[in-house]
Amino acid sequence: MARPLLAWYDVNRRILPWREEVSPYRTWVSEIMLQQTRVAAVLPYFHRFMERYPTVEALAAGDEQELLKLWEGLGYYSRARNLQKAAQVVTREYGGQFPADYKALMSLPGIGDYTAGAILSIAFGAPVPAVDGNVLRILSRVTGSDLDILDAKNKKTYRAWAEAALPADRPGAFNQALMDLGSAICLPGPSPRCGDCPLAHLCAARQEGKQALLPVRAPKKEKRPEELTVFLLRRPDGAVALRRRPSTGLLAGLWEYPNTPGLLTEAQAARQLADWGLTALRWEKSWQARHVFTHVRWDMQGYAVTVTGDGELEWYTEDQRRQMAIPSAFERATRVLGELEGE
Ligand code: ADE
Repeated sequence: MARPLLAWYDVNRRILPWREEVSPYRTWVSEIMLQQTRVAAVLPYFHRFMERYPTVEALAAGDEQELLKLWEGLGYYSRARNLQKAAQVVTREYGGQFPADYKALMSLPGIGDYTAGAILSIAFGAPVPAVDGNVLRILSRVTGSDLDILDAKNKKTYRAWAEAALPADRPGAFNQALMDLGSAICLPGPSPRCGDCPLAHLCAARQEGKQALLPVRAPKKEKRPEELTVFLLRRPDGAVALRRRPSTGLLAGLWEYPNTPGLLTEAQAARQLADWGLTALRWEKSWQARHVFTHVRWDMQGYAVTVTGDGELEWYTEDQRRQMAIPSAFERATRVLGELEGE
């Protein structure tokens, strides 16, 4: 597998900022950003991150709220918090040098088997596999295996196959070649581009014509739906009501527009405003939105209202809001706010 894959990679590899200049720090940050997020979406964040935090020490010393603001829009904010915690450990306990050791890396917050393998192979040239969903898909197809890739019991088997295929001379290139093959050729779904695949001649799924049936993945659990009503409240002086989310749980410590459980009608929403001690001057807009998290789904009813009074809420100016991280789950409300402010 390795030779044809590497020959293909040398011609077709993507030019990416964390590949052009390699260091353990850059590999680590890019791999964390790339979890659950596409390369194109990561690129601007990676550039901004490296400009603001050029070293692991700079990240360790950074202000958490500023970091979360920089992360705004990438989602899965615990990744950002763990990056900073791990940076503090690396700075304090390893003198700012990433340990080239699987166990030591695995003990850092946010670093699991995949990320440890990526850092060791890409930044240190160590022969360690980096098995993520893309690699599982490729391995399942190449071997023709119908072992469920989401079943933890099978993880060891797939990892052993990756290890067996790994070339000692270029482990980092091999792992990244699998990533590129997974994103350009061995696509998920019914139509991978087998005609362009450097592994087609040795692919069991291809020989048996079952590419579309692999990998096998047990059906995902239903996301738990939660209903809420989101209030975009603006005073005539331009201040907007925001509050800090609790320091644990979903979107911990980030900022949100005031919201209440349930999908309220306009009349019920008006009563809620009165309960908060506010007087509605103008109902500007209403909308519905949905945001899907890992385990929960939010179904939202939104209302934008110009109000008077302070009520029990906290109010923030546009300048203050620029420093505050408001997660993408509230993107629709933030966009409505932008529209209202543009008027
Ligand atoms: N996806 C995850 N890691 C990646 C990497 N290093 N390059 C490209 N895509 C990736």
